[in-house]
Amino acid sequence: MSKKSTINIGIPEGVRIKIAGGLSHLLADSYTLYLMTHNFHWNVKGPMFNTLHVMFMQQYTEQWTALDLIAERIRALGLPAPGTYKEFVKLASIKEVEGVPKATDMIQHLVEAQEATARTARDLFPMVNDANDQPTADLLTQRIDVHEKTAWMLRSLLEE
Ligand SMILES: [Fe+2]
Repeated sequence: MSKKSTINIGIPEGVRIKIAGGLSHLLADSYTLYLMTHNFHWNVKGPMFNTLHVMFMQQYTEQWTALDLIAERIRALGLPAPGTYKEFVKLASIKEVEGVPKATDMIQHLVEAQEATARTARDLFPMVNDANDQPTADLLTQRIDVHEKTAWMLRSLLEE
């Protein structure tokens, strides 16, 4: 006789579904940003090559680790994590960049994608806070911090 397992962690099912939905948007934006950063690591050219090639690698490596934390939080809330390009394109607020932009345009695209990911995380925060969901609140806080800091560092490259 099989017993259907139920989840009782103190967050009602409807709220868990809504939080997991918000985290799915964050996962899609994070994946899109990750891929954009890795793409630019491969294709960047010009006098800033070494700086940007190395900087982009540090950024996509950190982002790759974060994808797993976001997806596994969705699973811990009892919902399936999206994991296909098709779903990510549908869920992401960030648009993919066509072709190979010049280095300064790559930086501008990344600033905008970092800011968009921070906004997606921040938009979800009030619901998570109201639900008393500390692990998700902690994860969102860490992601907002990283994306805002990285956006500042990238923005600084474009300033005199
Ligand atoms: Fe590489």
